Amino acid sequence: MRKVLANLLIVLLLSWSWASTAVVASSEEEEMGPLASQGRILFQHYCAACHGVSGDGDGYNAELLDKEPAELSDEKFMAKKNDSQIYRVIKFGGQGVKKSHLMPTFGHTLSEKEIWSLVAYIRHLADDEDHLVKVPANTSETRPASPPPPHDPLNTFSDWYSKKGRDTSLIAQGEKLFRKKKSCLACHQLNDEGGLLGPDLSRAGFSYTPEWIFTWIGNPQRIKPQSKMPNLGLDNEECRSITAFLASLKGEKLKGKWKDYLASPGDPVKGEKLFFDSEGKANCGKCHSVKGKGGKVGPQLGFVGTSRTQAFLLESILNPKAVITSGYSSILILTKKGKFITGVKRNEDDSSIDLMDKEGNALHISKDEIKKFKTQKISIMPGNFKDILTQDDIRHLLAYLGTLKTSN
Ligand code: HEC
Ligand code: HEC
Ligand code: HEC
Repeated sequence: MRKVLANLLIVLLLSWSWASTAVVASSEEEEMGPLASQGRILFQHYCAACHGVSGDGDGYNAELLDKEPAELSDEKFMAKKNDSQIYRVIKFGGQGVKKSHLMPTFGHTLSEKEIWSLVAYIRHLADDEDHLVKVPANTSETRPASPPPPHDPLNTFSDWYSKKGRDTSLIAQGEKLFRKKKSCLACHQLNDEGGLLGPDLSRAGFSYTPEWIFTWIGNPQRIKPQSKMPNLGLDNEECRSITAFLASLKGEKLKGKWKDYLASPGDPVKGEKLFFDSEGKANCGKCHSVKGKGGKVGPQLGFVGTSRTQAFLLESILNPKAVITSGYSSILILTKKGKFITGVKRNEDDSSIDLMDKEGNALHISKDEIKKFKTQKISIMPGNFKDILTQDDIRHLLAYLGTLKTSN
């Protein structure tokens, strides 16, 4: 697993540096200089959802926050701050500099040099072109590897969780961290309160296994290097209590007749066959990949046996629109020529939208060609599997998905 992740990281880093050199061509970029240009890419990825693409404080996630994200394009506001103050709030987060905890910390995710590049880009947003941001000597260019206090290995955690994980005072402690201290609520909803950058966690205990929550929140970048969720630098105790809190959120119970599907085990070998059979009724592999094999329209399912509960997997097959996986919302576009296009939205910037259609074709559409578009609360995944697959077929598929585990 480590090795696979390391390779993945290399591929991502390669495409990253390619992406950053590829855009330096435009004249605005030349004016900005290489440091701010690097900052621009990071800003669009990590900051724009709250601070807005132009730094006006109006990102789509902003209106859901109790504290307004700073207006970074406001010249007067920014003139009062020196570079090292801006650097510190990005590195340590709002909590670290006695401001709102809703501003996350990025010092466990980005290198020092990357944080300086964000400072340079923020100066550019406030039209402060005369201000030359100086990167201090011996600034590190490598991203932090993982948070300093080592986290429990998974079996130690499982042991601990089965004994202590349902303790109510621990759950209360985790809830406090989640709501008031660690920025979680800035990006995740709990019963209609909180941000929308990440998935709604009101039913986290229904969807995710405690082992997965613990692994993910300890270091999201180890699992998904390009995730927009920063590493929040949680120590082992904090990871434990937040996991205990989230795992306690079960939501409503499974519908009565759905329980029948989980009552007896299926055959993983038959499940795998159904999954990849391109002539078969399920043909999940058309859209989903497992360990590199299969399509790219839907999320890769290579470790759902570790990360998702069987109840969640069942719901995903029987009623895909119940939860739309983060980053796979579907979009409907009406072009100026009167053509409708639908697919999974992969990326959006000021001038264009990238999407992938049901057949797996990647489309790049310039905003000049678009009359209007909207993201929809529907899934690209077919909603009729409950009619075309038998209960046994679905049991076999669930058994197969259950075998897809990470190795540590
Ligand atoms: C989840 C929402 C969110 C994200 C993502 C976010 N911020 Fe913020 N940011 C805030 C909020 C809220 C404040 C206001 C904090 C306060 O004034 O107490 C803020 C304030 C700031 C400030 C001003 C602090 C001051 O001194 O007044 C800077 C600079 C800043 N953010 C930079 C960034 C950068 C750079 C990124 C991306 C790497 C980023 N933010 C990502 C929510 C966010
Ligand atoms: C700046 C926004 C942001 C903050 C702050 C944040 N998250 Fe997330 N979180 C995300 C995004 C985006 C995802 C979707 C994961 C992905 O695909 O990259 C996510 C995913 C998750 C998941 C589901 C992982 C999965 O397998 O899909 C959990 C659980 C989670 N976050 C918990 C937390 C907790 C606990 C905190 C606070 C300690 C937190 N998050 C803070 C943005 C955030
Ligand atoms: C036409 C493409 C397509 C086909 C065919 C398809 N899916 Fe999906 N699937 C998607 C998309 C897109 C998503 C993400 C949107 C959503 O959550 O509904 C998804 C989401 C999922 C999820 C949730 C993943 C998560 O972690 O949130 C599971 C599990 C899943 N599919 C399993 C299956 C299985 C099993 C089959 C075969 C019976 C299947 N899918 C067939 C496109 C497809």
